[in-house]
Amino acid sequence: MTVLEIVTIPSEILRAPCADVTVFDAALHGFLDDMYESMVANNGIGLAAPQVAVSKRVAIVDISSDYIEQPAISSQASVPPQEHTHKQRLELINPRIISGTDKVPSDEGCLSIPDYRDSISRSYSVTVEALDRHGRPFSFEAEELLSFAVQHEIDHLNGILFTDHLSRLKKTLFKKWLIKNLGTDSV
Ligand code: CO
Repeated sequence: MTVLEIVTIPSEILRAPCADVTVFDAALHGFLDDMYESMVANNGIGLAAPQVAVSKRVAIVDISSDYIEQPAISSQASVPPQEHTHKQRLELINPRIISGTDKVPSDEGCLSIPDYRDSISRSYSVTVEALDRHGRPFSFEAEELLSFAVQHEIDHLNGILFTDHLSRLKKTLFKKWLIKNLGTDSV
């Protein structure tokens, strides 16, 4: 397995909507494993493919830690629900958020925006449809931290960064931070 380089702002690939995955082969499995290694190496709890310069609808979320809620999985492929996860990783291929509940504060950071954290609003819980690494369909409900992480990663697949959700005032402050730290506020 390989630790891939993390793409940081400003980068066009972080802003491009990703393409659907159509082939579920050993290359995809290798890529998912590399994404996991890259996430762990950078102390992340989630990672999306464009963050490692691959513009495909692939994201992973670590569900191994005690403080993250487990997803309530339903299989649409008639396999035991837990078979849709891989080694305590939630692997999401071509994911789609079907519904979400009321917004609550979520304190977030992003490996692609190093050293910046802020609070935004996210749905407390979401229902998501996705394919697993074998192309088998499943759906799940996620709450709280897991819900926030899943929304954050799926946003990445649509070219959206968590800072896009900042309030107007916070966006003004973020732009000042960008100018100071990156020399540009165009990210
Ligand atoms: Co991120």
